[in-house]
Amino acid sequence: ARTFYGATLAVVMLVLTIYTLRELPYNQPVYSAGNDPTIVDVEAIQFGWKMSETEFKVDEPIEFHVTSTDVTHGFGIYDSELNLIAQTQAMPDYTNKVYITFDKPGTYEVLCLEYCGLAHHLMIGKIEVT
Ligand code: CUA
Repeated sequence: ARTFYGATLAVVMLVLTIYTLRELPYNQPVYSAGNDPTIVDVEAIQFGWKMSETEFKVDEPIEFHVTSTDVTHGFGIYDSELNLIAQTQAMPDYTNKVYITFDKPGTYEVLCLEYCGLAHHLMIGKIEVT
């Protein structure tokens, strides 16, 4: 009986592990760099996003250059159905690049993915794609 429980537990853990990995934002689809992308500078600051541009076209290749002026934040782009479609860390003294091409029009939200202080939840940016 002990072997049976052990085997069952192993299977359950394997399934849970695979399920969890599926859900991790790091496993989101990879967007490749387009030719001549629009460069968008993104600065995270407690508690908001400074973006050099927030209006884009469908199929426009975009390269976000993401940094922070204070602490580490998480830069996450969500579509209107709240799917996380791109993400990277916003860190002081580093610039992380995210490539994305929006394939449908709509309003997208930029949310902070890393707890960065009392008003972390207020770090909401808007992106309009037409
Ligand atoms: Cu910025 Cu959480």
